[in-house]
Formats: sequence, structure tokens, C-alpha cells
Amino acid sequence: MDPYEAFTKVRSLLKQHHAFFRECIPLIASENVTSPAVREALTCDFAHRYAEGWPGERVYAGCQYIDEVELICIELAKKLFRAEFVDVRPVSGVMANLAVYTAFTMPGDTMMALSIPNGGHISHGALKTKNGRFLGGTAGAVHGLNVDYFVFDKEEMNIDVDASAERIIETKPKLLLFGASVFLFPHPVRELSRVARDVGAHVAYDAAHVAGLIAAGYFQDPLREGADVMSMSTHKTLPGPQHGLIASKEEHAEAIKRSVFPGLTSNHHLHNVAALAIALAEFMKFGREYAGQVIRNAKALAKALHDRGFDVVGKHKGFTESHTLVMDVSGFKDTVGLGGDIEKLLEKAGIIVNRNLLPWDSSEGRSYINPGGVRLGTSEVTRIGMKEKEMERIAEFIARVVIDRENPENVRKEVADFRRDYQKVHYCFNSVTEAYEYIEIP
Ligand SMILES: Cc1ncc(COP(=O)(O)O)c(C=O)c1O
Repeated sequence: MDPYEAFTKVRSLLKQHHAFFRECIPLIASENVTSPAVREALTCDFAHRYAEGWPGERVYAGCQYIDEVELICIELAKKLFRAEFVDVRPVSGVMANLAVYTAFTMPGDTMMALSIPNGGHISHGALKTKNGRFLGGTAGAVHGLNVDYFVFDKEEMNIDVDASAERIIETKPKLLLFGASVFLFPHPVRELSRVARDVGAHVAYDAAHVAGLIAAGYFQDPLREGADVMSMSTHKTLPGPQHGLIASKEEHAEAIKRSVFPGLTSNHHLHNVAALAIALAEFMKFGREYAGQVIRNAKALAKALHDRGFDVVGKHKGFTESHTLVMDVSGFKDTVGLGGDIEKLLEKAGIIVNRNLLPWDSSEGRSYINPGGVRLGTSEVTRIGMKEKEMERIAEFIARVVIDRENPENVRKEVADFRRDYQKVHYCFNSVTEAYEYIEIP
């Protein structure tokens, strides 16, 4: 392709992507949209610089303003997460997890976490599955950990405390890792941290999904419930730039700092640190109101889908206490298909969700390619101003496509129409620029 043609093509694709997101309903539980002030910071000159090391002790010159911004970012994060120590240098949630593994374990040690079908993330996984199949999870493949799994109660959609306690005593892991990608209810951190202490294990909590809920005082408070350390992404319920963060007790500061640099980062993407500082400042002001609405919206969407005939998981517990809800769509196998089919069908209607493994999928012979579940999250639709009544409209659109089997292209036109009124980012200092506006630099 001619270079100029490639340049104009990429630009045009970006503009098309923005136009697409302006018209669709974004329900991916791991995504969010940043404020205009955060987007502005992402374009600043920090993006061109290096600043290895800790503020004030950099390996590079030219870091005067970078250091000041990073120290503000650390201060805000310490306050929000009520943490003695914070490191804002991991460039993503996976890197934050890897830094935690490096700080608290040695290759060959055992870690206990949730398996992927039970909601765990690939970064928590072993190199191979129990039956020897290659899995390639970060914990095993990169840090050489053996990974044992918490016992999961499928009815409760949570870790089984008694059975997992027995397992911890039996296998004596060096690290327990709570947290998940399908995270409906708070994990039993308090109960199992006591058992961890008895076997000399440290306790970590992957807050990638629920960081914003925790910062706002909802869901749970891992560092007060017994966790030594919390790792996270900064762009899910915490609506910041794509980045990572670690918060811990002071006694672990040096081990974490060493693991992050020189262990896992050289450049730590300084424009993202600047953008994160702004996102944290906005969250400090508006976060409680935002996170409360995220959870109310998730409960409202779950109930609205259930009322229309969907099998939403966790009904006897109110469906969810977070931003996420999960539907078991295996009942549609003979009509519109399973999770993967439904994901594609809804995309045609401008409704963006993702297929997800359910804890009982493998025993039914289903894999992640076309699993029995669909995961939905309300972080982004809340951010663009939607409340409980809009959740009813969204459930109606989903039901028309999946249950009534209306032509998704027809539904798409109504989805775009519905979306017209929700173009601004809410819960931030400045919302003149629209959420999905493509910003051209002349
Ligand atoms: C529980 C959990 N941990 C870690 C990550 C990875 O985060 P990142 O994409 O920031 O590396 C995810 C991603 O969704 C996640 O769900």
C-alpha cells in the first residue's frame, strides 16, 4: 500500500470507529470511556519522554514536571484506595499482577487463584491445565508459578470458603490471589486471609474490574479485610487511561518498587500517568455518585433482562453487587445459538457485549469459542449519562434481537436513535467535547 494511502486509510478507519461508537450501546464490562481532560493529557509531550525509576531518583534528565505529576498521581491514589503505598508505574493490569507475583513469590512456588471458567483472568493462570493442555497463563508461563484453584460454589457464584480453606491448608500456597474478570459478588478476603496467615501465605487482590467501586467505598475494602496488596487496571470501573497501579501496605513498598523497576518496566508511559492523575482527581470529586449509579444500573439491567425471559445468573442474590452481570444463554442453543453467536448478532444491532465462559460450560462440552454465557457491564453506559430507565430500553433491544428474533439491522437504527441523547461524558470536570468525538490535531 502506498504510504500516503495507508495514512489516509488509517485515519478514515479511526473516524469510522468513532462514528460507530457514537451510535452503539457499549456494554463490555472491562471497558469505559475517559473524560475530555483525560484525553487531552494523553496527547501531551510526556508521551515522548522517559523517566525510569522513582520520582526524584530518575535515570533520565528532563523529568522536573513529570516527577511532580507522578507524585500528585501517587498522592491521589493513596487517598482513594486508603493505601500506605502506591506505585503508578505498571503499564497495565497484567503487568501489575506480574509485579505482585515477582514481589511476593519465586518461580516454582504455588499460588491459589480462581480458574478461568470460574471468573479468573488469563494472567492468573498456569502454564498448562490440570490435564496437561497448554494454557499459557501469565502466572505460570512468565513467572513459573504453579497455580492451584479456589473451590468455587457455582450456585453462589463465589469462592467456597470452607472447601477453599481446606485446600489452602493442604497445598500451602505462598500467595492467594483474589479478584476476577467475572466478579459479581465480593470475595471472602477476610475469612480466607486468616487461613493464609496460618500457612504463611501473602494475600493479593486483583481489583482490575472493581477498582472504581472500591475507591468509591462500595463492593469491599481488600486492604482492610486482610489483603497485603491490590493490583489493578485503571480503565474499567475506574474510568482512567489504560494503565496499571499497585496499592499496598508500606512494609511491601520496597519489594514492589524493585519488581516494577528495574524488574518489569523501563518506560512507564508517562502520558498515561498524567491522564491517570486527572482521572483520579475527577473520581475523587464524582466517583461516589458515579460508582453508586453503575451498581444500580447493573442491578436494573439484570432485573429488566430477567423480566423479559433471560436467565440472568445469581437471581437469589440480587444478580450482582458490581458493574457486571452474566446471562446463561445456553437455552437459545437451538434458536439463535450460544454466547459467541449472540455476541455477533447483538453487534449487528449496535449492542456491544462479550461472550463468556460459565463455570458449568466445560462439563457441558462448551469452550470459550462459543460458550454458554454473555457478560455485560454498565460502567460505560453510566458514564454517558444513562440511569435505570435506560436499562429498561437496553433490555428491550436485547430481547427483540435474541428472543423475538427481529432483524438486528432494523433494531440497529433504533439503537442509534436512542443513543443520540447520550453523547457527553458525565462525572467529570469538563464535558464540552463529546465522548466519542474524533479529535484532529491541525
Ligand atoms: C481480573 C483482571 N485482571 C487483569 C486484567 C488485565 O488488565 P490489562 O488489560 O490492564 O492488562 C483484566 C482484564 O480485563 C482482568 O479482568
